Parts: sequence; structure tokens; C-alpha cells
Amino acid sequence: MKPSTNHIYPVIWHNNSVSLIDQTRLPKEYTFVEIRRSEDMARAIKTMIVRGAPAIGVAAAYGIYLGAREISTSDRHEFLQHLDQVAQLLRSTRPTAVNLFWAISRMIKAAYETLGTVEEIKQTLFQTAQAINAEDLQTCQAIGDNGLTVLPTTPEKLTLLTHCNAGALATAGYGTALGVVRSAWREGRLERLFADETRPRLQGAKLTTWECVQEGIPVTLITDNMAAHCMKQGLIHAVVVGADRIAANGDTANKIGTYSVAIAAIAHNIPFFVAAPLSTVDFELADGSQIPIEEREPTEIYQVGDTILTPAGVDFYNPAFDVTPAELITAIITENGAIAPHELAKSQLKQVSKSVKINQTM
Ligand code: MRU
Repeated sequence: MKPSTNHIYPVIWHNNSVSLIDQTRLPKEYTFVEIRRSEDMARAIKTMIVRGAPAIGVAAAYGIYLGAREISTSDRHEFLQHLDQVAQLLRSTRPTAVNLFWAISRMIKAAYETLGTVEEIKQTLFQTAQAINAEDLQTCQAIGDNGLTVLPTTPEKLTLLTHCNAGALATAGYGTALGVVRSAWREGRLERLFADETRPRLQGAKLTTWECVQEGIPVTLITDNMAAHCMKQGLIHAVVVGADRIAANGDTANKIGTYSVAIAAIAHNIPFFVAAPLSTVDFELADGSQIPIEEREPTEIYQVGDTILTPAGVDFYNPAFDVTPAELITAIITENGAIAPHELAKSQLKQVSKSVKINQTM
């Protein structure tokens, strides 16, 4: 099956279950996995069938609904107790992307705030999951278009560099960093995208290039250690990456290797942008040192396919994310516009005052 242009949706509600694009099989095979139970959703998140911060959030939201559907009691208190266990299971899948925790909290809050029967709570949960999915798609489109306001204006057509996959596959659709790339391409402002391969799981090589090929966006794959060299040669005009969690001071966790790209960008006077929804900002964390960093299996680094690369007796360290300090980030591109990292806290205040206004008019 070939996805139609601009319509790559990694998480779809279909036939009373969730269809996930199996991202572990791309680009070789474009297949879907059908998920009917919350436990299977937790496994799909952990094994990275679905991955990317916003997509994990959307998948977990549906996971909560699937879990709710499995609970047979009509006693409200008992139902909510079981639902908390489902939430706990889903929370335990991946620690870094805050969108997972954000989406689960929003679902659980919706359940507790629904005063009707258990059936009515289930209905609310379904609607909330659908809303999280739909909102993320709109948010990404806004992020993409907001990116156009901060990209360099010369040359007329830019060459951008990205790391990992922050595309449609990593969100409800369209993407964050790749959303900016898509919008730039649509407006005739993109010459080409350079994609870092992104060791060890190769999201850049396997997923970002795949998305670009679907849409005819010219893409050049480089290995991670080539980025600084390409910058020095004047091949890159700006860097755009996604985020898994942004602390209140703008420090940003993203796929391992992002930090080195940021250092290389600053050394070559190249703007470095983070594109992310505001749901990726964790205002409870003062700075990036508090962001939990996932460590994954060493097989990811010592094995390629069936081939083991190393001799026996080697130790391994496989952190899946790193933290780029706020001072290396030119701007954070959100659905509300591009924000200087040190202005993030103020943007939270603006959001709060907006919601107060809405509440007052209700
Ligand atoms: O381990 P992954 O593939 O889930 O990591 C994905 C990333 O680091 C993305 O850049 C990030 O989640 C942003 S996705 C819009």
C-alpha cells in the first residue's frame, strides 16, 4: 500500500480498533498493526512500532480508551481504579517524551471529571482520544507554517538539515521539524533536505528519507558524523529538529546526536531551530538536567541485522536522547509562533491567561 501525498497517519482509529503504521518495518514494508488491547498498545510503544513524541501521546490516549473498554464493572470507583492501572502500564513504556505523560494525564482527568455512568466515561475517553489526535494534526500544520516566519530569507531556496524523524510518522500527521520542511517545500523555499542517518536506530535513514520520497521532497542522506563537515562546506542554511521534552528554561531533549548537531551549528553560525508543540514543554522541570533519559538495549549499538560488530568483553552505553542547552537554540517553533527559549515561561503565562478568559466567558 502506498500512502497518498501529505497523508501519512501513523495512528488511525479504524474498525473499532487502532491501526498503527509498523515503523519497525519501514522503508521495506508499509504495513499496519491492528491494536485492540491496551497491553498491546503498551508493547507497540515500547518496541517502537509507533514512536516520536506526539505520536506516542496519541497512541497512549487510544491505549487508555482500549483499556477502559476492557473493564467490565459498572461501578464508577472500581472502574477508575482499574483505569489508573492501565495508565500506569502505558506510562512505564518510555520515559523521555513528555507527550506520553501529558496525553495520559489529559485522558485520566477527562475520566475523573465525567460525572455520569461508566459507559458515559468510556464515551468521553473515546472522544478525548480522537480530539488529541485531531488537535495534534492541526498543531503540526501550524508549527510548519510558523517555521516559515523564522527561516533565513536568503538564499531564496534553503537547504535544511534534520536529525532523526520528526515527521508525519512521529506525530498525528504532517510532522514538527518535517512540518517546517513540508511548508517550506510547498512555498517554494526549500532546495533540499539533508537527513542525518541517526544511529543507532536509523530513524533518519529509514523514516525521514521515506517520508520525503513519498512527497518528492529532494533529500540527501548523510551519516551523523558528516554534519559538521557539510556545514563547513556551506551546504546547510539552517537546522530544524523535533523535541521529546523541553524544560521550562528551553533546554531540549531530542534524539541522541542532536546536541552535537547544535554545537556544530553554533560553530558555523547556522541557526538551530527546535519545532515542537507546546505539549512537549514540561514547565515542571526547571532545566534539562532533570529530564529522564531513556537507555535502551545494547543490541541496538553492537548488532546490525544479524551481524554482531564487537568482540566479546566490551561494555556498552546506549542513551536514546540527549539534551541541547537552551543557549544553542535560535528559537522554538510552536503552534503559537516561534519563541526564544528564554521566553518559554512567559508563553505559559499567556496560555493561562487565555484559558482564564475563556473560562470567564463560559
Ligand atoms: O526514539 P524515537 O524515535 O521515539 O525518538 C524520536 C525523536 O527523538 C523525535 O525527534 C521527537 O520525538 C520529535 S517527534 C515530532
